[in-house]
Amino acid sequence: CRVRHYKFNVVMKNTTRLCSSKPIVTVNGLFPGPTIYAREDDTVLVKVVNHVKYNLSIHWHGVRQLRTGWADGPAYITQCPIQPGQSYVYNFTLTGQRGTLWYHAHILWLRATVHGALVILPKLGVPYPFPAPYKEEVIILGEWWKSDVEAVINQALKSGLAPNVSDAHTINGHPGAFKGCSTNGGFNLNVESKKTYLLRIISAALNEELFFKVAGHQLTVVEVDAVYTKPFKTDTVLITPGQTTNVLLTADKAAGKYLVAASPFMDSPVAVDNVTATAVVHYSGTLATSTVALTKTPAQNATPVASNFVDSLRSLNSKKYPANVPLTVHHSLFFTVGLGINPCSSCRNGSRVVAAINNVTFNMPTTALLQAHFFKIKGVFTDDFPANPPIKFNYTGPPPSNLQTNNGTRLYRLAYNSTVQLVLQDTGIITPENHPVHLHGFNFFAIGRGVGNFDPKNDPKKFNLVDPVERNTIGVPSGGWVAIRFRADNPGVWFMHCHLEVHTTWGLKMAFVVDNGKGPNESLLPPPSDLPTC
Ligand code: C2O
Repeated sequence: CRVRHYKFNVVMKNTTRLCSSKPIVTVNGLFPGPTIYAREDDTVLVKVVNHVKYNLSIHWHGVRQLRTGWADGPAYITQCPIQPGQSYVYNFTLTGQRGTLWYHAHILWLRATVHGALVILPKLGVPYPFPAPYKEEVIILGEWWKSDVEAVINQALKSGLAPNVSDAHTINGHPGAFKGCSTNGGFNLNVESKKTYLLRIISAALNEELFFKVAGHQLTVVEVDAVYTKPFKTDTVLITPGQTTNVLLTADKAAGKYLVAASPFMDSPVAVDNVTATAVVHYSGTLATSTVALTKTPAQNATPVASNFVDSLRSLNSKKYPANVPLTVHHSLFFTVGLGINPCSSCRNGSRVVAAINNVTFNMPTTALLQAHFFKIKGVFTDDFPANPPIKFNYTGPPPSNLQTNNGTRLYRLAYNSTVQLVLQDTGIITPENHPVHLHGFNFFAIGRGVGNFDPKNDPKKFNLVDPVERNTIGVPSGGWVAIRFRADNPGVWFMHCHLEVHTTWGLKMAFVVDNGKGPNESLLPPPSDLPTC
């Protein structure tokens, strides 16, 4: 195994999209940021130097960080931010992981422009469990605001209402040629006839789930969130913020140009022109004059298309890549996820939209939770996060009369190696919305999913404990639920939150604290000497 060294200079860079320019926060002046390449079991060292005016931290989304929570990155959860002028070396090992992951800023809304791919190749000489592709391409989906992104969220917090919807979606940083006022034709995927390409699709979008499609071509899904899946063919991929999806694309159509399109699923009901981002698959030898074959992504509310895609996902579960689903459950948890309304004296209309898990709106601490845990600093958090909703109601029916939530920095404590079954139940309060929930520090198995209220008597009978998809980010369906299982084999403090940035901001987040085990390799390692202080 090798040690890979990278340097991230976080700098401002003037960037033009949709005919207007603004300075954005970037890694090394690039948007999206540079790709990190490594192999399974390699150690990666990234020196992050903060040259901007904002506090900063970088999260390695999907990297397990076994015993190295100090390198996980969420600000005030596992570390204090890297202050302007300061630096921090993220040092972690990709133990037993291979596939497409990514990194992003994990503070404020900086991840809008501070993000990039983390490509982990299999160990040298180990093949993929599918035919070797001719070439690989990273495809990052994102969102673009013409105005300053921090101003967008600050303005929303002041008013207590929802922030403005983005002005465009992007594919590898560009809205594409079919968007009015594009300064660039968008991303071109150049292909050779008959060859197969591995597309590593990453959703860095902030607030919207996306459909992804290539005109005239079927895509074969082979991996999600850096875990191999049973291959299946589809013409549409659904990808939520935080997720990654690897697909094979074979250039088996007549030479020409084919549209690649990404558009929202369950977009905000606000009508804005941010809908479809485009790119082009360009066969070599195609005449410059040939027109692009168009395609249409599913309608914004095409729930059956989305469900069909999600229901098709299964772990590969081969001898070499088994699905080790925990079969016993030590902690059976039931969390409601949704919105609420709290009084707010500084907000324009006296109240503000909030979000909560089991009615707890998470308060960000001012000391990093992992430090408080490791150094036993009192008064930073409590470990009494409710295992069940404090008030029961018809979660997917009419909202209760009291929409107010409670604030707290409450964690849920797990013994080392205990197993967790967690049902995430969406509540339809204020607006029914999907919630892509991301768990740091673990992969989990998605063992069940349904519409309406979870039925603890009958739904578990239908759980898939054989080959459920394994991942780190899962869409909790609007007006429905998902059930996941994982083993708490990673000591530390691990954030769990909705990956819709606005919902994280509003408090749809909590954390698990996993105690050390008794064995020699079952403790959180001590913090590195350059760990930032608050
Ligand atoms: Cu990709 Cu806590 O985030």
